[in-house]
Amino acid sequence: MSGNSELAVETLELGRRYGRVTALEGVNLRVTKGSYFVLLGPSGGGKTTLLRLIGGLVRPSAGRVRLHGRDVTDLPANERPTTMVFQSYALFPHMSVARNVGFGLALRRVAKREVRERVDRMLDLVGLTGYQERMPHELSGGQQQRVQLARSLVLDRDVLLLDEPLAALDEKLRKEMCFELKRIQEQVGITFIHVTHNQEEAMTVADRIAIIASGRLIEEGSSREIYEHPARRFTAEFIGETKIFEGTVEAADGARARVDIGIGVIEVGNRDANVRVRDAVSISIRSELLELLAPDETASAAMQSVPATYEKTIYLGLTSSHRVRLPDGAEVGVRRFSGARGTARIEPGAQVRLAWHMEDARLHTS
Ligand SMILES: Nc1ncnc2c1ncn2[C@@H]1O[C@H](COP(=O)(O)OP(=O)(O)OP(=O)(O)O)[C@@H](O)[C@H]1O
Ligand SMILES: [Mg+2]
Repeated sequence: MSGNSELAVETLELGRRYGRVTALEGVNLRVTKGSYFVLLGPSGGGKTTLLRLIGGLVRPSAGRVRLHGRDVTDLPANERPTTMVFQSYALFPHMSVARNVGFGLALRRVAKREVRERVDRMLDLVGLTGYQERMPHELSGGQQQRVQLARSLVLDRDVLLLDEPLAALDEKLRKEMCFELKRIQEQVGITFIHVTHNQEEAMTVADRIAIIASGRLIEEGSSREIYEHPARRFTAEFIGETKIFEGTVEAADGARARVDIGIGVIEVGNRDANVRVRDAVSISIRSELLELLAPDETASAAMQSVPATYEKTIYLGLTSSHRVRLPDGAEVGVRRFSGARGTARIEPGAQVRLAWHMEDARLHTS
């Protein structure tokens, strides 16, 4: 049985149970060769399980795994073209950087001189030239992470599996390492599959992102697609700050739907969701795409709005969150750059309208 050889990884209805716990179910994943692919999702969603199934560290309860078109479901980890980078640094504490990086090659009985050359090349790639003789405890967290990366890359496998590789780093270092990982992946050209629950990390490195939650692949797309056009309500809520309205469809055609959301009736595009009258739906709008209007301000025909009461503004540095209360009691944040000019002062308790352009709202059936 052979599959599409343009794909580095393909899973077919992949599933894993632990006793009565379903860790993963019905996952059909397709990862293009040479891409930087991210598995993003909340804790306990099944990301590590999926990564381990791909690497052969865990056996599936259902489904198949193909690597470069070849079915490897029954192959052990060491016979697969994959290598894993773990969350904890997991360096050998009593070995120098060079010996740590060369360890896998030494096990394979690669000649000493070749080991040294390949180790040097890898340390150069990860920006650690000259660190050969350092011991792990003499390195910072970010440097240890680089050594681990070099140790995996030196094995020259086709697919690198990274499980929360930056989780132990502080925010600033994590950002730097994101750019480094991306650069290294582009340089070596092999496929990276990177697990994280941090959305900024995901967006920084990824060519494509798959959202994994409750043991399922929720949806998959580029960073921009996932952020701007989330197909599923779960994605809209998980990524970014989002207002969700729930309601019932009153009228619908192929282009638009009118939805009763309790505090009003609003119109929303219906091309993607294709809902029908009486369907229960949700509508998501990014907080930075919401606007506040004065109650008597005339908005363009493409604007939708609901009444609201202004409460306060929370200063967050780059942005501020203008908080309003809706008639149903829900609190909503409207994001604006803190430095934005011309932001009118609104008094707490003032009546306003919470508004948005119709094309910025997404309609979801689930
Ligand atoms: N060896 C195991 N035995 C029993 N249950 C397990 C085992 N490994 C994972 N699970 C369960 O499977 C589910 C998915 O776990 P998994 O580790 O894949 O999640 P994750 O998305 O990697 O989470 P995190 O972000 O916290 O690392 C969880 O409910 C977990 O408790
Ligand atoms: Mg995990």
